[in-house]
Amino acid sequence: MTDVPVLQVDDLNTSFLLTAGEVKALRDVSLTVHRGEILGLVGESGSGKSITGFSINGLLSPPGQVMSGSIRLHGDEITGLGSEQMRRLRGNRIAMVFQDPMMTLNPVLKIGHQMRDALRAHMRIGDREVRARSLAALHEVGIPSPEDRLLAYPHQLSGGMRQRVAVAIALLHEPDLVIADEPTTALDVTIQGQILSLVQRLCRDRGTALIWITHDLAVVAGIADRIAVMYAGRIVEEGTVDDVLDRPAHPYTRGLIDSVPSRGQRGRRLQQIPGRMPALTDLPEGCSFRPRCPRAADACAQPQPMRDLGARRVRCCRPLTEALA
Ligand SMILES: Nc1ncnc2c1ncn2[C@@H]1O[C@H](COP(=O)(O)OP(=O)(O)OP(=O)(O)O)[C@@H](O)[C@H]1O
Ligand SMILES: [Mg+2]
Repeated sequence: MTDVPVLQVDDLNTSFLLTAGEVKALRDVSLTVHRGEILGLVGESGSGKSITGFSINGLLSPPGQVMSGSIRLHGDEITGLGSEQMRRLRGNRIAMVFQDPMMTLNPVLKIGHQMRDALRAHMRIGDREVRARSLAALHEVGIPSPEDRLLAYPHQLSGGMRQRVAVAIALLHEPDLVIADEPTTALDVTIQGQILSLVQRLCRDRGTALIWITHDLAVVAGIADRIAVMYAGRIVEEGTVDDVLDRPAHPYTRGLIDSVPSRGQRGRRLQQIPGRMPALTDLPEGCSFRPRCPRAADACAQPQPMRDLGARRVRCCRPLTEALA
């Protein structure tokens, strides 16, 4: 049974049902994350990364709705669970870390109070054990003098310390899956690095599956085992970090990589992908990236299924790994 993935998402379709019509935010999203594995989910703003996270953890609210597809946690289907059942999973088996730690923390409650609530939401334990577990959790995320911090309000901590507290709360119940949505974007580079390696270490040590959402390729290169690249609501490429970043197959992935400054390219002009991501209500037929793609041809106007190319998957009929005829 060890090879049952912690998370398996198949052909997930999520829409916003607006009076003006349906906005298809996710189309046929499929993902697998195994125990102890870190999946980087990347793509430009509006590509559907956060909506993927919200669809999985049941935090999507109307007019957003999962329309079809399957989400399995250790093989158990969780689409269609009621809000009470999802609440029981959240914080317990699936936890979230958000860009803004104040999405997790309540500004008017002391840290100790919030940790007690988070613990008691899923276990019946006495005050002494609450205190012991809270202190251990704060200690584990590298918070100095945790006894004092229990008595502090969130605003008395720095941004980096607040994010550490949010991480401590997310990991309190040793969840199977953590979804981290740009948790370091708002922090300085050094603090970013600290939080990154902290979460990576904690998840590796405990075998927690982690989805790290970011638009920063340097971050995923440093933390992830595998990368899934999203474009206009679809996953367009997915594979190991080395395959995807060193030998991208999808022209969009290549474009993303080329638009990031790197030392090796010093002095060279950065290549920006021409044009912009189309509105979800106005996608071209076939490949959504076609209007911006240097390799586009007539065949790209056909629907592009996900293709297996060795260990990776790519939604492109003219991948960079194959010479053009
Ligand atoms: N409340 C909403 N109503 C209608 N459409 C929405 C709503 N929320 C999101 N969307 C659509 O879903 C798309 C994906 O949004 P999402 O927040 O997942 O993007 P993202 O990849 O996380 O972007 P970012 O990097 O900016 O966080 C958006 O481009 C938008 O078109
Ligand atoms: Mg987002």
